[in-house]
Amino acid sequence: MQSTDSSPSSGDCSRYILQVYVGALSLHYEALSVEASKQTTAEEIVSCIVERLGLPGSNYELAEVADESKERRLSPEEKPVSVMLLWPMHSERDFHRFYLRESQNDVPWLDNYGLDPQILRDFIPFLLQPENREYPDLCQLPDLNESTLLENLRQRFDAGHIYTYVGSILIAVNPFKFHPIYNPKYVRLYQNQKVGPILPPHIFAIADNAYYCMLKEKRNQCVVISGESGSGKTESTNFLLHHLTALSQKGSHGSGVEQTILSAGPVLEAFGNAKTAHNNNSSRFGKFIQVNYRENGLVQGAVVQKYLLEKSRIVSQGPYERNYHVFYYLLSGATEQEREALHLLPADKYNYLNAKNLILENCDEKYEFSRLKQSMEMVGFSPEKQRRLFNVLSAVLLLGNVEFFPKKSTYHHDESVQVRNSDVVSIISELLKVKHDTLLAALTSKRVKASGETLIMQYKLPEAIAARDALAKCLYGALFDWIVLQVNHALLNKDPTVPPHTGHSIGVLDIFGFEDFGPQNSFEQLCINYANEHLQYYFNLHVFKYEQNEYKREGIKWRDIEFMDNSGCLQLFESKPTGLLCILDDLCNFPGATNEALLQKYNTVHRENPFYEKPQKKENAFIIKHYAGKVKYQVAEMREKNLDLMRQDIVSVLKNSSLAFVRELVGADPVAVFRWAILRAFFRGYFAFRTAGIKHRQERADQAVNKVTVKTRFRPHNDLLISHLVTVSAVNLTINRIA
Ligand SMILES: Nc1ncnc2c1ncn2[C@@H]1O[C@H](COP(=O)(O)OP(=O)(O)OP(=O)(O)O)[C@@H](O)[C@H]1O
Ligand SMILES: [Mg+2]
Repeated sequence: MQSTDSSPSSGDCSRYILQVYVGALSLHYEALSVEASKQTTAEEIVSCIVERLGLPGSNYELAEVADESKERRLSPEEKPVSVMLLWPMHSERDFHRFYLRESQNDVPWLDNYGLDPQILRDFIPFLLQPENREYPDLCQLPDLNESTLLENLRQRFDAGHIYTYVGSILIAVNPFKFHPIYNPKYVRLYQNQKVGPILPPHIFAIADNAYYCMLKEKRNQCVVISGESGSGKTESTNFLLHHLTALSQKGSHGSGVEQTILSAGPVLEAFGNAKTAHNNNSSRFGKFIQVNYRENGLVQGAVVQKYLLEKSRIVSQGPYERNYHVFYYLLSGATEQEREALHLLPADKYNYLNAKNLILENCDEKYEFSRLKQSMEMVGFSPEKQRRLFNVLSAVLLLGNVEFFPKKSTYHHDESVQVRNSDVVSIISELLKVKHDTLLAALTSKRVKASGETLIMQYKLPEAIAARDALAKCLYGALFDWIVLQVNHALLNKDPTVPPHTGHSIGVLDIFGFEDFGPQNSFEQLCINYANEHLQYYFNLHVFKYEQNEYKREGIKWRDIEFMDNSGCLQLFESKPTGLLCILDDLCNFPGATNEALLQKYNTVHRENPFYEKPQKKENAFIIKHYAGKVKYQVAEMREKNLDLMRQDIVSVLKNSSLAFVRELVGADPVAVFRWAILRAFFRGYFAFRTAGIKHRQERADQAVNKVTVKTRFRPHNDLLISHLVTVSAVNLTINRIA
């Protein structure tokens, strides 16, 4: 039971929350919360709950249970709030409750509920938590601990229920198989349905709730999705967007913009997803999609923000991994004519494609290619743009086939190199429309300015390979950025008759999940896991700390749940001047520093840090104790990857292309684009959340001063008797704007 007095001076207008247990009357919910005033009658409360549960007939009544042994039927005119106010505050055993049952006119009063068969059936089983009872909301578990929670999820999963609520959050357990619960019938089922006990938990309910909260509260909403790699974040994002756009269509078949939003997903996934050891369709970038709505609830447009594409994958992949999907789609699906024009080779002839892992099980890549082309068309890539884009893809692949051999020197052993297969360079220069000699020179030498003069220095073999790989990564990275730009352009509302966006938005954040590749974790995993560590911190902040404080403030009996506070781990990453990232940046700016020196410094500075560990065996690696477990990171290439400079010499080759498209790719001044600049964009987003969270908490604190409690947030504006659920199925946090 909870009671809340919204305003001490408001007299009869005070609002209270009654919790009414419904026992066997609902398969899904143990109790419902009803907001009521002192004037609200038992009859009104009964009819409200009967309506919410969709119960047949009207033969129900409210009963009061007290001290485990007594229960009493409330007459229809009785005022439950007044009854509740007589209950002892904070009694040792909190067994004063209301519950709804079928009317028992023949037995109007009972002093010993142990004799009441209805209570025996409904109430006692609830207290004892029967073994085979599933709870669609984990908050309903009478005994909530890790094992009951997991057992409940398991039971539900075994019964085919992959979704479960836990308060305001939806947990999705990945079924790895198709469940027919996303078809139009389900879209309609969850459409215009406030979250309620009638329908089982579903991802569509999250979208629906966010949509209606946006319209009702006139505030931006955001759905944050978190989980380890392969847990289903991207699939969930797609389902959310599906429903969010369907809601706006009001029954019609989406206008252009809804279709464009849905088509953006497959395009971004083809270029930014790949098979990893954890997931056949792993996102190798983070994305935030903000769907903008007009005030009337129709979609106006959308904005996509991308974070941190894993570029190292272009040139090498782990043993069970592949390069980005789009390469395989292109090689499987291109027509003979396209093959010829693009100079495509069989997939196993490319060094950048892991020859042992060319096939993706259960994937028809030829079909995927045609689907990709279709989606590209939907987001405004003309056939000509597509052709140019595929030219770049082919050039990237061919770069991996450029080989070098040492030049012979008449004077002494000279390690400088020249290209072995200049015919490949010719094809690349043709595809990119750059001069063959310029490209050749950029692959084997660099210009160095010394005392006002420009010298040409020949590369040694490792430098030449690095320059070649840097060119491939730079090209693909620039191409991906260009695609995001194009997608955003298509998602913008281009109708000049429509005024600028004045409504609100719903954002969906889908980032790469937490990863551990055993002995092969590198800088990319460090960044990915750091981002996930931040997300976890955010969840801790809002879900645990914030809710606990809320409950305490409301006087609800509550024992603090112990959770792992990961702020120490974040400190390890980001404190100044000794955080891991700060030291890494310092050593990147220090000429002559090595990755070994980096490790040494880490070991010296963080030896005592509880979140940092040295591996047992001596190796060039360090261990971080993340919220999701320990991960060992290799220091090899950390400095180089952190710098990830778009090298001036390489950029100038591309800038000299006679093809405007290629010049456009490398933009105005892309030199020295640091990974951290991209990561910073992520944290701008994070700080937007945080600021909004602080603001939100402040507002709630202010409300608390005025004795307005958490429940009033969900209160509709009309009337005496309004009900809402104990649970709200969405993480709907207001964000100002993801910058
Ligand atoms: N609701 C679902 N129904 C059926 N299959 C699913 C569902 N969710 C996920 N899957 C399966 O799991 C796979 C992995 O899911 P997904 O790519 O969404 O993971 P992720 O959390 O985005 O991982 P990453 O962090 O690596 O990007 C999907 O390709 C799909 O086969
Ligand atoms: Mg994903």
